[in-house]
Amino acid sequence: MCGIVGYVGTKQALPILIEGLKRLEYRGYDSAGVALVADDAIRITKSAGRISVLEQCLDHDDNAITGIAHTRWATHGAPNDINAHPHTDQSERFAVVHNGIIENYRALRTYLQNQGVEFKTDTDTEVLAQLIALVYDGNLEETVRKALHEVRGTYGIAVVCKDEPGVIVAAKRGSPLLVGIGEDEYIVASDASAILAHTSQVVYLEDDEMVRVSQDGLRTTTLEDIPVTKRIQEIEWTLDQIELGGHEHFMLKEIYEQDAALQNCMRGRIDAENGTIHLGGIADVARELTRAKRIILTGCGTAWHAGLVGEYLIEDLARIPCEVEYASEFRYRNPIIEDGTVVIAISQSGETADTLAALEEAKQRGALALGVVNVVGSSIARTTDAGIYLHVGPEIGVASTKAFSGQVVVLSMIASYLGRRRHMSQPAAEQLLSALDRIPAQITSVLEQNDACKKVAQDYVDRENWLYLGRGYQYPVALEGALKLKEISYIHAEGLAAAEMKHGPIALITDDMPVVFIATQGSQYDKVTSNIEEVRSRGGRVIAIATEGDRQIAELAEAVIYVPDTLEPLQPLLTVIPLQLIAYHAAVLRGCNVDKPRNLAKSVTVE
Ligand code: M6R
Repeated sequence: MCGIVGYVGTKQALPILIEGLKRLEYRGYDSAGVALVADDAIRITKSAGRISVLEQCLDHDDNAITGIAHTRWATHGAPNDINAHPHTDQSERFAVVHNGIIENYRALRTYLQNQGVEFKTDTDTEVLAQLIALVYDGNLEETVRKALHEVRGTYGIAVVCKDEPGVIVAAKRGSPLLVGIGEDEYIVASDASAILAHTSQVVYLEDDEMVRVSQDGLRTTTLEDIPVTKRIQEIEWTLDQIELGGHEHFMLKEIYEQDAALQNCMRGRIDAENGTIHLGGIADVARELTRAKRIILTGCGTAWHAGLVGEYLIEDLARIPCEVEYASEFRYRNPIIEDGTVVIAISQSGETADTLAALEEAKQRGALALGVVNVVGSSIARTTDAGIYLHVGPEIGVASTKAFSGQVVVLSMIASYLGRRRHMSQPAAEQLLSALDRIPAQITSVLEQNDACKKVAQDYVDRENWLYLGRGYQYPVALEGALKLKEISYIHAEGLAAAEMKHGPIALITDDMPVVFIATQGSQYDKVTSNIEEVRSRGGRVIAIATEGDRQIAELAEAVIYVPDTLEPLQPLLTVIPLQLIAYHAAVLRGCNVDKPRNLAKSVTVE
């Protein structure tokens, strides 16, 4: 979604701002803009469309050493040049970039109009720029503070003023904001990727905190003007992790990284030989967690699918009642949180607004709130009581791939950890953890089936409707396979629990419909093969993901992709890989923008 970059230093600001914006492109946006401050003026350039369009409109010789920039994902007002950020007040003394939503913007707009202010845009952000101008008292920091006291909603903002060139004031509530600390320079950003090329030293702002950066240094305060001493942290990601490095798309790079990413995720955490698991992130709450009466997993999209696998794992291995909720539903349905309820939020970005809100709701109702998050220092990670990071590295492609695998691995580790502390025998733990330990190598061998996956995509890419069916542990994988296909190739796809097909969706099956069965050998194999027969007898075109060595399935399906055998609870980690590859190739064959699918954002920071 929207992205912010701001620069104060000794270098020309523009190239740094543009490079930062490009690093934020993956988040999704529909317009972009820059404000440069120098010579007693603010120079604003903005345009709808891609950053390359903006670049054509810019004066690349502008030598300003202070500026702010933005990529916008429209919420209030059409995605056009005028509504693009930065926004200014009437006198163009201030420029503001903003992520989030100002909820009381209508009331503020009416108030300002009654004071004679004329608005140029349809955005909520312009209200903030005009309000700052109205309450300006000669001190930018004080003025922003005063204006923010009138604002309800969420924001990450960066503000400049032509009277104070060389100063950026930024503030945060519910929308991420950090400050990169370089040599004689500061870079304000909404995402660490925008600053990594310049520094890995960073300060994360908390909600209701503000920062003033200038050549004189960095000053952090609360909205109430209480000074705050911030810890400087080191970003653990490296620049090459956020670059394509010879790959055609980030999605493919990230699919191929999964073996190494999962090794990283498990490193130092599982000891297969002794059947033990060390999860430092939840050590402090281990007792409470082990005694949990109920676990609720919550998240959105792919993270929710990982949660569904987690539900099976936790009930199966730890024998604790577990349920999975869409974060957006959990938050608003007056959930019952009894003593002993643990809520685990699952999120790659750690910034998804619905998931964050669900977590806050759960905490407020007294639940122990845990996180399974990839981005270190993200809002969800900071809101939890404890949690476990995925450590799978940055995920740039909008379609989540390695994060799903990391989430399932972390949930398997949590389930085994709890199982072991409650009832699981040592040999059972050893068997499970040894199987988990083998997963990265098995993923490497599944990735060798890329050509077979590409062939499936080629053979069926012109069909507009696909079904994905699975049972038990493979049901969430069916949902995930369908989501991958639809979000990047725009082919309509539906994932279902295979047995549900006969209760309605079977009516859709024609002799032209690809039906992908995740049909690995396990407790429900015979049932799944019966479902395959039902589809075949109606002319459906069966594609199967099956266990290596299963010859029977080859007689039932038009195409088979084989994955190595593993314990049933871990099979999703292998079966999801061919589905990711099929979706990827289908999208490429249809000429789609794989890493930045239409209408989608990498991190959904609005409700
Ligand atoms: O960052 P999060 O894991 O919280 O994101 C949740 C969903 O928005 C995300 O998984 C989305 O569904 C992906 N585009 C799926 O590929």
